[in-house]
Amino acid sequence: MNQSKTDISTNINWEEIRAQFPVLNQEVNGKRLVYLDNGASSQMPQVVVDRINKYHSHEHANVHRGIHSLSQHATDAYEATREKVRRLINARYQEEIIYTTGTTDSINLVANSYGRKFFKEGDEIIVSEMEHHANIVPWQLVGEQTGAKLRVIPMNENGELEMERFYELLSEKTKFVSVIHVSNALGTINPVKEIIDAAHERNIPVLVDGAQAVPHSKVDVQELDTDFYAFSAHKMCGPTGFGILYGKKELLDSIPPYRGGGDMIDKVTFQKTTWNDLPHKFEAGTPPIAAGIGLGTGIDFLNSIGMENIAAREAELVAYATKKLSKIEGLRIVGTSHEKASVISFLLDGIHPTDAGTILDKEGIAVRTGHHCAQPVMDHFNIPGTLRASISFYNNEDDIDRLVDGIEYTKEFFA
Ligand code: ALA
Repeated sequence: MNQSKTDISTNINWEEIRAQFPVLNQEVNGKRLVYLDNGASSQMPQVVVDRINKYHSHEHANVHRGIHSLSQHATDAYEATREKVRRLINARYQEEIIYTTGTTDSINLVANSYGRKFFKEGDEIIVSEMEHHANIVPWQLVGEQTGAKLRVIPMNENGELEMERFYELLSEKTKFVSVIHVSNALGTINPVKEIIDAAHERNIPVLVDGAQAVPHSKVDVQELDTDFYAFSAHKMCGPTGFGILYGKKELLDSIPPYRGGGDMIDKVTFQKTTWNDLPHKFEAGTPPIAAGIGLGTGIDFLNSIGMENIAAREAELVAYATKKLSKIEGLRIVGTSHEKASVISFLLDGIHPTDAGTILDKEGIAVRTGHHCAQPVMDHFNIPGTLRASISFYNNEDDIDRLVDGIEYTKEFFA
């Protein structure tokens, strides 16, 4: 993943693209909305909203169950997303694309299914200090059941992983590595390819939390050679309640189902139940069908712009914002890695992030405040939380200027 700035994005009319997001065209607290909380959830373009409405209005039926036409149509539409996801991340097979309810669910699936089968007392799972809680707690839970322990790759003051410490942590005890691709709290792009290669030299599987990576640039799971890769629909122009777990086929075949119920079975008797084939083995119960179809349309929308163009435009906006914010007296950017994407976390001298966020909201500016579900990151910097502006390709320079004005106003307010 490379967030390098190019002029590739200059031939695209970004204002026309922005105009396709109805949510952005409104006032909040009497001011034009400036939406800079894309790390928490991105917005949906009109085509995605329309596609979901169409399903609810004309196509609603359960999937994989009915012989009737409506059910078959819903199944086709829902399954079409699998191929779109496969192509987006360049997975080898459609069966490697498991539908989940989001990144958190995807990681819980692997922690439970893989961990309960393979971990034992004394084993070690390596994560990093920069993980989102969703990539810490599931491993702790499975650790309590199996006796496996977490080991943590520390980070430096720029918010970069201390890779030499990672190499020291790797040992015969290491049974799994699970790391975040792009930090939601700091924006750091981690050297996941290097981590994967080093782990594979010792036959250790790796999961990458790609929730903040897939929406912002081209990710190729075969090139990374990652064993598992997790991400969410609602951060990439799709709806909430839907996500993806990519897993290498042979690994997914080797682990048991995580949740039981309809759809994931082959044959059920009270004596013994056998499992459905991939990917359905991991997809119990009626899924969020509209959300799955919506993600498919979201991917079409992203592809119509091009992930390279999106990455380039966001790099421009992040550079612009970083330059402007850096000039504000009393503002400190937290997370200054050389490789950064889409997120700028910062603090204002003497003003609690929550107070600052409240004033910015009054100005119509949506940023996230707090620990961003990454408390160890905040502990590292010895801070209660940050303000976080997270940028999408549909933001513009005017949004950043409004943020800068809002911060100046906030400083005056508390002066
Ligand atoms: N993980 C999401 C965020 O960073 C919710 O805001």
